[in-house]
Parts: sequence; C-alpha cells; structure tokens
Amino acid sequence: MLQVENVHLGFKKKGTFWRAGSKPILKGVTFHMRRGECLGLIGASGSGKSTLGRVITGTLRPQRGLVRLLGEDIHHTGLAARFGRGRPRRGLGGVVSIVFQDYSTSVNPRFLVRDILAEPLRGTRLAGDISYLKALLAQVRLPDDYLGRKSFELSGGELQRVCIARALSAKPALVLLDEAVSSLDVSVQFQVLELLKTLKVESGLSYLFISHDLAAVTHLCDRILFFNDGRVVEQVDDLAELANVKNCSSRQLIAAVLA
Ligand SMILES: Nc1ncnc2c1ncn2[C@@H]1O[C@H](COP(=O)(O)OP(=O)(O)OP(=O)(O)O)[C@@H](O)[C@H]1O
Ligand SMILES: [Mg+2]
Repeated sequence: MLQVENVHLGFKKKGTFWRAGSKPILKGVTFHMRRGECLGLIGASGSGKSTLGRVITGTLRPQRGLVRLLGEDIHHTGLAARFGRGRPRRGLGGVVSIVFQDYSTSVNPRFLVRDILAEPLRGTRLAGDISYLKALLAQVRLPDDYLGRKSFELSGGELQRVCIARALSAKPALVLLDEAVSSLDVSVQFQVLELLKTLKVESGLSYLFISHDLAAVTHLCDRILFFNDGRVVEQVDDLAELANVKNCSSRQLIAAVLA
C-alpha cells in the first residue's frame, strides 16, 4: 500500500528561505508498508523523520526516488501537486492524513470543533452532515455536545482526539502520526494509544507512527524501522527481536530508553 523507494531530499538556503537543494537530509530512504499494519519509525531528533513524513503526504517533493501510495506515484500523478496548493484534502486527503505533535497550533483557534472536523470535508456533502460529525466524535470517545465548543475549551488530550477524528474524517487508508502523543502526559498518552489501537481494528486503518519514544512505538506497532541520519538503518519485523538490534545508533536509542 505504501512504497518508498530510494528517496533523497536536501535543503538549501535561498535568501532568508530554505528550499529544496543541496544540504542532504534524506539520503536514500527505502521501505514498504502493507495495508492494515502499523509501522513505527523511530529515530533521534533531527534525523529527518518529519521531513520524510512531509514527502509521504506530498507537501515536499523528493529530488530523487519515488513514493507510491495504493499503487500511484504521488509526486508524478498530480495528486501531490493538488495537495500542495492549499487544498490538502482534495488530492491525497482521502488517501493519507496526518496528526501532528502540536495539537494546539494544528487547529484554527477561532474554529468550533464542528469546523475543525469538517475541514478535510470542505466542498463535500459530509461537511454539513451533523450526524456524521457526531459519529466521528463518538469514534474518539467524545460526547456530541463538543461539536459546539472552541478548541481552547478542550484539554490537551481531548483536542488531540479531535485532531485524530479530523484525520479520520475523509476516510484515509493511511494515517501518519508524527509524534502524535509526545506532548500528552503519560496517562493520556496511554488512553490515546489504546484508542488508536481500537480505531485501527474497527476501521482497518494503516498507521505510520513517527516517534522517538520506543515505549509508545512498541505499544502500538507491528514492525519498527530505525532511522538515523536520513536513512533506515535497521528494520525489526518481530518485536521480540528488539533486544538483538545490531545497528549502533539503534542500540543507543534502546539503551537510552532502558537507562
Ligand atoms: N524546511 C526546512 N528547511 C531547511 N531545513 C529543514 C527544513 N525542515 C527540516 N529541516 C532540517 O532537516 C533536518 C531534519 O529535520 P526533521 O524535522 O525531519 O527531523 P526529525 O527527525 O523529525 O526531528 P524531531 O524528532 O526533533 O522532530 C533538521 O536538521 C532540520 O533542521
Ligand atoms: Mg519531527
């Protein structure tokens, strides 16, 4: 369902802006993901995980390599281009959606929860379908009357659940979770991870779960990729084998968690 082949991407500074260019960040990333699986992507800060996420969701175009989602090369079919021009949910939105770490800045503070949930559905009949929006809230275990609340009237955990519901609203095949539970406190993290597990089974979703938190990754994921300095350096298909990872940077990450 997702194939990432030899993806290279760099940035260079042009005036005050960074653009695609020569400072390499992704250095030949290759991995595959099956439908319905949860793949963990774990790596140190700055190793390029979020950049890879932006390539997969179509907002950054790789300089080399390809990303195929449900058989379509997203950067060459025009899907990603439509995604990039401020209409994120029309193109890739129905196929892949994303939940970020910083839930407070990923929603418009002037919006009601109802508007946040309907964002990916703009221009479709479902955007005004209150019973559909209520069902989305119910999926993330929030009551109906939250539809009329503003984002600042919600706790961090509640708002992140709204962001998860928004990510599910256009019925994507793949949800990319970029440090999606990292800013929640531990007990709320656990609740959200459990919720994600349940939703995966209920809706047959696939997750790419980007994190530097090994405990969260092992809680949720079927397989783990270790990422370092712009490359996948090790793949663990059987979590029981986690103690036997060979790559030095992967061992360091594991040791840091166990310390
Ligand atoms: N738009 C950009 N322009 C220039 N450099 C960038 C840009 N986005 C990311 N980078 C650089 O690319 C590198 C990888 O960043 P990225 O955000 O992908 O790391 P990460 O693995 O997600 O880290 P973290 O765990 O801290 O979120 C960093 O050195 C960052 O400074
Ligand atoms: Mg990141």
